[in-house]
This record gives sequence, C-alpha cells and structure tokens, in this order.
Amino acid sequence: MKVRLDPDRCQGHGRCYTVAPALFSGDDEGYALALADGEIPADQARRAESAAANCPEHAITLDDA
Ligand code: F3S
Repeated sequence: MKVRLDPDRCQGHGRCYTVAPALFSGDDEGYALALADGEIPADQARRAESAAANCPEHAITLDDA
C-alpha cells in the first residue's frame, strides 16, 4: 500500500505528521512531505488510514496497488 499526497490540496494543517510521523513530515512552512516515497510498512497501515481520515483538505489517499 502506498500513500498519495496531493500538494495542491495540502494547506499545512499538520495532522498527518502528528498522527503518522513515520510516514509524513512537514517542510519549513508546514506543508506535508511523504516519507520513503510513500511506501507504507504493514505496521503503519492503520496510521496511514488515520492520517488520510484526519486531513481536513482530503489531500491524502491510499493506493492499494
Ligand atoms: Fe497537509 Fe492535510 Fe497533512 S492539509 S499537512 S496533508 S493534514
């Protein structure tokens, strides 16, 4: 599973890297960056789902492919 981040939607709310710091970080202005090329380790799957659910801009989607 991979995480897909839409930089056009991200407004820097920061919930993603608070909920899933192993998967996201923030740039100098607080906008999200996906770590590890968006790859989600199996033990981070629930955090990835939580990050996607908690982004108020719907900037995060999960790709099962
Ligand atoms: Fe951006 Fe959403 Fe995270 S707005 S910083 S992707 S919570």
